[in-house]
Amino acid sequence: PELDRNQGVVWVSSTDGRIKGYDWTVNDDASFQSFLSSHGWNDGTSRQGTKVGVVKSNDARNEFFFPGFIDTHIHAPQFPNIGLFGSSGLLDWLNEYTYPTEASFGSKSDPKNQQTDPKKTPPAGLRVYDEVVNRTLAHGTTCASYFATIHVPATNALAALCHSHGQRAFIGRVCMDNKDICPSYYIDQSTEQGLNATKSTIDYIHTLDPNGTLINPIITPRFAPSCSNASLEGLGKLAASYTPPLHIQTHIAETLDEIALVHQLFPESSSYADVYDKAHLLTQRTILAHGVHLSKDERTLIRDRGSKISHCPSSNSALGSGLAPVRILLDEGLTVGLGTDVSGGYSPSILEAARQACLVSRLLQYSSEYQTMTGNAPSNGSEKLSVEESLYLATRGGAAVVDMADDIGGFDKGMIWDAQLIELGSVPNNTVSLVARGTTMSGAVGNVDLFGDETWQEKIQKWMWSGDDRNVKNVWVQGKLVHTRG
Ligand code: GUN
Ligand code: FE
Repeated sequence: PELDRNQGVVWVSSTDGRIKGYDWTVNDDASFQSFLSSHGWNDGTSRQGTKVGVVKSNDARNEFFFPGFIDTHIHAPQFPNIGLFGSSGLLDWLNEYTYPTEASFGSKSDPKNQQTDPKKTPPAGLRVYDEVVNRTLAHGTTCASYFATIHVPATNALAALCHSHGQRAFIGRVCMDNKDICPSYYIDQSTEQGLNATKSTIDYIHTLDPNGTLINPIITPRFAPSCSNASLEGLGKLAASYTPPLHIQTHIAETLDEIALVHQLFPESSSYADVYDKAHLLTQRTILAHGVHLSKDERTLIRDRGSKISHCPSSNSALGSGLAPVRILLDEGLTVGLGTDVSGGYSPSILEAARQACLVSRLLQYSSEYQTMTGNAPSNGSEKLSVEESLYLATRGGAAVVDMADDIGGFDKGMIWDAQLIELGSVPNNTVSLVARGTTMSGAVGNVDLFGDETWQEKIQKWMWSGDDRNVKNVWVQGKLVHTRG
């Protein structure tokens, strides 16, 4: 159905979910228009200088449409582990918390993973996946790139749930076949079996959504240490064997221990990125999560191959992995989006990831690694991300990371209506008077406090710093309403 004229100012095609145009006669708020033009935020009429899309609702003072968030890196089966880290770093955390939880998504009646029936997923696993899709939609995530587990039925179940809930998604069956690294209870039985299992999830997803309108498969070697060279090469070939080539996702340079392990396991490769490059896994449709500790040569290689970076600041801080130098990545021409990396990340919210990206960028100048990278030049503050830039990474940046920059992440005419309606200030709607900034103000106070005299820029800033899922009133994917706040 087309977006209701009374609810909004955007006309969306009922056939393909794309934006046909705007009804600006109902959007005559001069302060909103001047906010858009003074900050280069897209008003939907032009691509010139666009950063982020914002379209004002005509319903209420403090509502606006914002492009749906794009989570470029999230592990669906790790949801039950949110908040569980111990005090360990990445490699111990994987063994202690992550692998046992992921292993529980396997089917007892099909231990060899031969069947493709999603119903072979343990009931608890199905409940987790259903909750993941509901919760991420409620946080405004209209598109997610998911790691599932090694199990074919459970991976197919995740795809089926995204499809039925109407969330745009890339679904990856995780590949891990290195017996020296992976636990015996959670490992592909052989390289061959892993590749075949991956193919069967691809076939299932292609049958579910033959045009790839909402759901697409993504080739998912977990990370170099968990994979043999043969499986990395096999996966590179598998991705290239489709037209267009399949998307690929993996992890890179997340922690220093992990990098040392990669050098030990792949002595013939000059770097972590080179391991993937030798296996033809660095393509224009490759999403590399983290990239916290990439060398200059690796950054150049990744840029030249057109591969993309998923910045996961909540995870990097929670696991103590490090501070990714996002400004350097952007200045060198890499494409960057945001990922929650649940459950290395503790939150399913991309708004939280945007906030954490801002925080990490403000701390970067105190990192000795960053100081070395920049030749110990005194910081001029340019490494700090603005609210607008962080929200750009959450939307248009993420769209570029999943190779859909022309379709999602903004509100240009012709783009797909993947959107959220954000409501500020009136949740839970207590009215207060107080003196702030020298004047007495009164207004609605909620989880994002507004006192009535904010400019639109201030409203957006307050939303990024203190908003959450309570502010997400409605969510649309492909022009279809997929979530309404309870
Ligand atoms: N590296 C390999 N596997 C994982 C994972 O599950 N989470 C994170 N954050 N890093 C990884
Ligand atoms: Fe991850």
